[in-house]
Amino acid sequence: MTDRIVLAYSGGLDTSVAIGWIAEATGSEVVAVAVDVGQGGESLETVRQRALDCGAVEAYVADARDEFAEQYCMPTLKANGLYMDAYPLVSAISRPVISKHLVAAAQQFGASTVAHGCTGKGNDQVRFEVSIQTLGPELKCIAPVRDLALTREKAIEYAEKNDLPIETTKKNPFSIDQNVWGRAVETGFLEDIWNGPTKDVYDYTEDPAFPPAADVVTITFDQGVPVALDGRSVTPLETIEELNRRAGAQGIGRIDIVEDRLVGIKSREIYEAPGAMALMAAHRELENITLEREQARFKKTVDQRWTELVYDGQWFSPLKNNLDVFIDETQKYVSGEIRLELHGGRATVQGRRSETSLYDFNLATYDEGDSFDQSSAPGFIDIFGLSARTASQREERIHGKPDLSGAGVEK
Ligand code: ARG
Repeated sequence: MTDRIVLAYSGGLDTSVAIGWIAEATGSEVVAVAVDVGQGGESLETVRQRALDCGAVEAYVADARDEFAEQYCMPTLKANGLYMDAYPLVSAISRPVISKHLVAAAQQFGASTVAHGCTGKGNDQVRFEVSIQTLGPELKCIAPVRDLALTREKAIEYAEKNDLPIETTKKNPFSIDQNVWGRAVETGFLEDIWNGPTKDVYDYTEDPAFPPAADVVTITFDQGVPVALDGRSVTPLETIEELNRRAGAQGIGRIDIVEDRLVGIKSREIYEAPGAMALMAAHRELENITLEREQARFKKTVDQRWTELVYDGQWFSPLKNNLDVFIDETQKYVSGEIRLELHGGRATVQGRRSETSLYDFNLATYDEGDSFDQSSAPGFIDIFGLSARTASQREERIHGKPDLSGAGVEK
């Protein structure tokens, strides 16, 4: 039997050419696999037919939008996953779900190898290949752009020569990756990091400088996951889609960063993630009122480590799985409602309400009904400050009184 290669297929120029290119370079049959993670654009059926027209022996398409929202976006929300405190892992979380479908298709169609369209300079090649190796250790990986010298120019030439049913003239200056969680744009004039993004970079968001009237949304969470918007039950996918529309209209979730790639390069990227950023603002605030202090402080460290692992392509790794267990356990009481005002580029928390909150009005109030025993405070402070005080007494014994000059005290 002829060897088979499963190709991660987007329907675009490069992967359409890759079908024939791989077949010619390796003598294998190519099975195209397209996974819908909410990137929009053409229908799965159109993409499937194009793959077959470009010479794929089989074409497998999967609507993975709910799976992606539930099993990849929601864990990212629970982990408040922002790489370098800014990037909500848009591309990083789509690679593992796509990889899962690639491995399933490879097993179904008897393929020995999986191919993807990444270059040799980015994070995505690592995410695909580490995920694929983990889920299907018997599989090999190739990347035609990286390993079979498939350049952009050669792709255009090949498509024209072979009359492939794909546009070769539409010249987009940017490299774009998008899904329901957000959109990533790089290359072109953005590579000069002094250049500001122009209007045409954006698609999920409107200009926050000219917002419509404020939009107030109430998000109900159950154990860290949104379950209703303004009292209407919604699935995770519906939540993200609706907030993409509403927060996007207000220009929320535009991010411009120079980020540290896993391969050692610093690269400039523009992201748009209106729904994700609005949800994270709400989720973080609900955690503020429902997590116990030490749990919250420690979770920040766990969240950050989780985020780095996911950015670095370790979605299916043991440590990431362990951290998921911790994070899930912390979400036990992260239930309740957050009222958010969406306006002019900002998602601002205005109200919080939770049956499982640790906020105790009677402890916090400065008004009548205060149940906090202030007479205990001096004793607490005395003991809390004891170790620093002891150290400072030693300092004074050895070096004399502390130098207070520069403190602004008048002589
Ligand atoms: N730099 C981001 C990441 O590594 C996004 C890469 C997506 N690709 C793109 N063509 N913009 O997750």
